[in-house]
Amino acid sequence: MRHSRIVGIGHYVPEQVMTNADLESMMDTSDEWIRQRTGIEERRVVTKESTSDLGYQASLRAIENAGLEPKDIDLIVFATLSPDYYFPGCGPLLQDKLGVDTIPALDIRQQCSGFVYGLAVADQFIRTGAYDHVLLVGAEVQSKGLDYTTRGRDLAVIFGDGAGAVVLGPSDEPGVQSFHLHSQGKHYDMLWMEKPGSANKPIITPEDIQEGRHFPKMEGQTVFKHATRRFGEVIQEALKANDLSFDDIDMFFFHQANLRIVEALCKHLSIPAEKTFNNLSRYGNTTAASLPLCISEAVEAGRLKRGDLICPSAFGSGFTWASAIIRW
Ligand code: UT7
Repeated sequence: MRHSRIVGIGHYVPEQVMTNADLESMMDTSDEWIRQRTGIEERRVVTKESTSDLGYQASLRAIENAGLEPKDIDLIVFATLSPDYYFPGCGPLLQDKLGVDTIPALDIRQQCSGFVYGLAVADQFIRTGAYDHVLLVGAEVQSKGLDYTTRGRDLAVIFGDGAGAVVLGPSDEPGVQSFHLHSQGKHYDMLWMEKPGSANKPIITPEDIQEGRHFPKMEGQTVFKHATRRFGEVIQEALKANDLSFDDIDMFFFHQANLRIVEALCKHLSIPAEKTFNNLSRYGNTTAASLPLCISEAVEAGRLKRGDLICPSAFGSGFTWASAIIRW
C-alpha cells in the first residue's frame, strides 16, 4: 500500500527583530503584559518581502533537505492568511519563483490550521498516486497588515512573520498515519478580517479604513476558551483513532498561539514539558507558518529524530482546528 511521509523540512524568518520594547514605543503596552499573557518576547518582521518570498526561501531549504531539486516537485500546496494579493494565490506565485513550469499549485485558507489541512491534502494526492512529491508551505507576512497603535494592540503584539515548508513523498511505511480536521463557521467573526470582502458592497470604503475594518479583530477570551477545549479534543481524537496513548507519542507540537494555552493543555493532558517544543517567545504567532517553523527548529535542535511519533495540532480562525499523527 502506498503512503506519504515527510522527506524534507526547512524554515525561513526575516532578519528584522521587533521586541516588546519596540512595541512599547509604538502603543500603550508593556513588555510585562505581553510576556505574562502570551509568553512572547520578540517577533520577526519583514522590511520589503512578501509572503510568497518567505515561502520561497523556506521551500528552497525544505527541497534541499529532502535531497531533491525544484524540478522534482509535482504539486505545491500553499497555506496562508496573508497572501501577496487577494488573487491570484501564493501557490502560483511560488511556482513561478521556483521556476518549475507548469506544475499545479493550490492555496489553503485555513489560517492557523492551514498546515495540518495542507498535510491532509498532500497525503491524499500522494496516496492515490496522483503525485509523488508535494511541497507544502505555511508562510505569513502579518506585520504589514496590523494596527500598530493602541487601538490594535491586542493583536499587534501577538503576530509575527515567518515561513516553514515540508516536502512529502511516497513511502511503503505510513509517515502520515492520520489527520483529523474540523471547522465551525458560526464563530467566523471571533477572529477575522472583515474588509475588503465580497460580503460588502463596495468591498471597502474610505470610512472602513478610517475605522480600521481592514485590520484583523479577535475576541481574545472567547478564542482562548475554544482553543483550549478543541486542542484537547482533537489530540485525543487522533490518539484514539490510532489506538495510541499519550506515552506512545514522542513529541507534541502545538500551533504557537499563546504559551499560556500550551501550558494549560500540557497540565490538563499531563504532557511533560520535554515532549513539547515551543519557539513562540522568539516568533510570536505566525499562523500557518507556526507548525512547520516549530517542527523544523526542533529537527535542527536535535529534539526530533527519524522514527519518532509526533502529534501536531492547531486551532484558529474559522474556527478551524486539526491534528495529525506522523511517523517522522
Ligand atoms: O492563533 C489563533 C488562536 N489564537 C488564540 O488562541 C489567542 C487566544 N487569546 C489570547 O491568547 C488572549 O485572549 C490574549 C493574549 C489575546 C489577550 O489576553 P487576555 O488575558 O484575554 O486579555 P483581554 O483581552 O481580556 O484584555 C485584558 C486587558 C484589557 O484592558 P481592561 O479592559 O481590563 O482595562 C485590554 O484592553 O488588557 C488590555 N490589553 C492590553 N494591555 C496591554 C489588550 N491588549 C493589550 C496589550 N497591552 N497589548
